[in-house]
Amino acid sequence: MYKRLETDEWDFKGFDTKEYTHGYHNYPAMMIPQIARRLIKEYSPSGKVGLLFDPYMGSGTSLVEASIAGINSIGTDINPLAWLIAKVKTTSYDPNEIETAFGVLQKALSGYAEDNVRNKDFTHITNWEYWYSRESLLKLSFIQQNIDLLSEDISPFFELALAETVRDVSFTRNGEFKRFRMKEEKIRSFAPDVFGLFKAKVRRNAIGLSEYCRIENKGSVTTYAFDSSMPFPDNVVADGSVDIVVTSPPYGDSRTTVAYGQFSRWANEWFGFEHAKTLDNYLMGGKTAREVLFETFSIENELEAVRKLDKKRYLEVVSFLNDYNASIKNIARKLRRGGRMCYVVGNRTVKGVQIPLDYFTAEMFEQNGFQHEITIVRAIPNKRMPSKTSPTNEKRKKVNTMVKEYIVIMTKR
Ligand SMILES: C[S@@+](CC[C@H](N)C(=O)[O-])C[C@H]1O[C@@H](n2cnc3c(N)ncnc32)[C@H](O)[C@@H]1O
Repeated sequence: MYKRLETDEWDFKGFDTKEYTHGYHNYPAMMIPQIARRLIKEYSPSGKVGLLFDPYMGSGTSLVEASIAGINSIGTDINPLAWLIAKVKTTSYDPNEIETAFGVLQKALSGYAEDNVRNKDFTHITNWEYWYSRESLLKLSFIQQNIDLLSEDISPFFELALAETVRDVSFTRNGEFKRFRMKEEKIRSFAPDVFGLFKAKVRRNAIGLSEYCRIENKGSVTTYAFDSSMPFPDNVVADGSVDIVVTSPPYGDSRTTVAYGQFSRWANEWFGFEHAKTLDNYLMGGKTAREVLFETFSIENELEAVRKLDKKRYLEVVSFLNDYNASIKNIARKLRRGGRMCYVVGNRTVKGVQIPLDYFTAEMFEQNGFQHEITIVRAIPNKRMPSKTSPTNEKRKKVNTMVKEYIVIMTKR
């Protein structure tokens, strides 16, 4: 089939994954920077490499690495929070200007009093009383009002620190992507230092920014928010213009795999971003399909096995694969001849059946004129991905899944 190479050379155990701007904001299923870095270094196609594309950029790991390598890049993601993170992580704000603005902000925050908060209307946040204390919301609002006084050129840098704070001070259980409320007794003693948390994030990000700004001859970065499974908007990425794609797509729909929508809802609602509540419907696999829109041999047995076990789950998998295949068709067109695609994917388990998404990816690209080079199989050494999920959607019945990651590498003929 499509050759897999199991190796521990891509584990990057113990490596610092927060260098430069990579440590700005957490995001579900982030790519390890070292993977993007090594793919760019070792798998860039021969000839000129002027443009990298990431069609599911998430927090923008590949784009940061492209810019550090001096390669121009374009990325897209329909999650507005992802767009904000990627945008801020790839912008070389002037560190001195940030420092000065931070001084102004800190001074303003020291003048906090409830009477000084202009916007006390939190109704745009669903169940705000259930998820936040009033005091936290007032303080968040006060931070926002003072960020709004800064120049628009630099305010996103501070908004990103606020985005993270908004989630941290909510009553959501720490360390989970899904929205689970803390237990009542925990809430009673939960008194987050809103300003302290915000300032700590700004300070941490400012250190990353200085490191990033020290890199010379960085590539330019353009970030979009278009849907990669729909035909691309005119002129954003020309056909045949991309030299290399380095990306990690979702492994399935967000409801049954990684909860991008739920993780991002805090910030997306806070900033009033579009589709904050219903984002999962728009991500790949978000709408249920009625028919199969691809032809596959590589995973037909697995799909058939799931279909026999559970028709509904089968349709959920097909919905995702339909959208995924549609986006592959769009992306394939954008690569030049000889261009490389590097897809980091996970093979999730549905109803006890593992779906080899690496094979499906290779097969769909093959149908679009690509030749498979190699699939590198690496263990996921840290906790960035949930290693246990409940694919049967039943509590307690957890199985190991996605402890390996598959890096599919192909060349356009
Ligand atoms: C695995 S994450 C990418 C993580 C990224 N490599 C990083 O390091 O942060 C997959 C991303 O695909 C995005 N996504 C899902 N469906 C999409 C679509 N149709 N178009 C563009 N992006 C989409 C999700 O919002 C999510 O951010």
